[in-house]
Amino acid sequence: MTRSTPGRPWWRGGVCYQVYVRSFADSNGDGTGDLPGVTARLPHLASLGVDAVWLTPFYPSPMVDGGYDIVDHRDVDPLFGSLADLDALVAEAHRLGLRVVCDLVPNHTSDRHPWFRAALAAPPSSAARRRYVFHPVDKDHPDRPPNDWRSAFGGSAWRRVPSPDGGPDEWYLHLFSPEQPDLNWDDPQVPAEYADIVRWWLDRGVDGLRIDMAHALFKHPDLVDAGAGQHTEFRRNHLMPFFDQAPLHTLYRQWRAMVDAMPGERALIGEVCLFDADRQARYVRPDELHQAFTFELLECDWSAPALRDTIGRTLEAYRRVGALPAWVLNSHDAVRTLTRYGGGERGLRRARAAALLMLALPGAAYVYQGEELGLPQVDLPDEALRDPLWERSGRTLRGRDGSRVPIPWTVDDGTYGFSPDGADPPWLPQPDGWGALSVQRQTADPESTLALYRSAIRLRRALSDGAADELTWWDTGSDVLAFRRGDGFGCAVNVGDRAAPLTGVDRVLLASAPVPPACRSLLLPPDAAVWFVPA
Ligand code: GLC
Repeated sequence: MTRSTPGRPWWRGGVCYQVYVRSFADSNGDGTGDLPGVTARLPHLASLGVDAVWLTPFYPSPMVDGGYDIVDHRDVDPLFGSLADLDALVAEAHRLGLRVVCDLVPNHTSDRHPWFRAALAAPPSSAARRRYVFHPVDKDHPDRPPNDWRSAFGGSAWRRVPSPDGGPDEWYLHLFSPEQPDLNWDDPQVPAEYADIVRWWLDRGVDGLRIDMAHALFKHPDLVDAGAGQHTEFRRNHLMPFFDQAPLHTLYRQWRAMVDAMPGERALIGEVCLFDADRQARYVRPDELHQAFTFELLECDWSAPALRDTIGRTLEAYRRVGALPAWVLNSHDAVRTLTRYGGGERGLRRARAAALLMLALPGAAYVYQGEELGLPQVDLPDEALRDPLWERSGRTLRGRDGSRVPIPWTVDDGTYGFSPDGADPPWLPQPDGWGALSVQRQTADPESTLALYRSAIRLRRALSDGAADELTWWDTGSDVLAFRRGDGFGCAVNVGDRAAPLTGVDRVLLASAPVPPACRSLLLPPDAAVWFVPA
């Protein structure tokens, strides 16, 4: 049975583990992870102590963008299994006390989706074309797209297509690859269809939906130019005419009412990528989404003032609307923390310290598969790269495959327990020596990153039951970030490169690196974090 605390739904303070299905566990030996593979490995998540698991898309898809190009929102791609496999996964997860969150992709479909096929076969201005963002070609400038919008994967966000009746060509919008046409959320058929999809999955028994690109969907009605910085200067996302449009809030209010009327603690979780804390917090007002990913930590430098400022501003903005953040350090779209923080030993020390920081903050937290193993970003050879970013950027951006390499379960050679013996090679090659980072190896080592995550997640549950959602900063040296949760435990992180004294500590509860025994004060090593009982 899944856990539930009266008055405190799981999504307010739970830990959710992100499974990138393709790279988690392969049960049938085709080199691609699948749903039965996930089910077989659920005990790993139960032993980690997380509350929920989020599955990235497993729906029928040509896999142009790793499954974020969906052909049928109510089925499972044979590559990943069947609907019966999904039902079995949900049942087993629930038996182990884990909730299951699935991905919902409402900004676009695959170009092979029946709706888009129908749109291409229909004339301009038809009902079939209205479900997507089509725009007439300017007769005087037939090669000029309707505006300056760019695809997140490179090039113009518009593609020109012929009309089936021999009439004039039209452009269609694709904020991602051309194989991911954007839906037109102003056409009533689109919200009606998605309300049905949301209900369909929740009725099937899943506990929540993670809404892909939840800040996109509606576009500025006049399709005004976006100017510089599109998809690169994330801090300006809220100014982009294809993001953060007012009707989103009406939509999420409708979905919230629908979801809250269902039994159980169901959650709508938005991938909202806005870096203006107040704009972001609007999405988690009491009658909107239950959670919105808080990417502030992921984007923040390893610097005490920057972290203090980011955490403080974010908490304050969420507090004003009565919500808490959902912190994220890693995902299938980002460079893994260890590598982001400098790689090697230092990167690992920082990644471990950052984990204790994130897990000590008020709110929910997301852990991306392999983060608990301290995996680095993998430098893949050119010929292995599969992310559309690689080709569409003219082979200048290597893309996100380096954080999507199949994870190591066992020490042995071969696929390190990812696939059964004799299987096809994994869809992305695993580096040599990957087994040294495996679950098997780390389970046997009490100092491992896996052991640290296990201890932290368990302790966090015990501590935060008694700790308030407020956070009070401690005045420490400039390189040390320290705070206390209400009257409860404290957390201190030394982001500097020298050991720093920390006073007012009664007892250390958990440390990301060996610390000398504390007696009122202790010397915190560089790039290390501790949780402690204040004196
Ligand atoms: C989200 C997904 C990412 C995908 C994009 C388009 O950001 O996390 O992987 O490429 O949306 O669906």
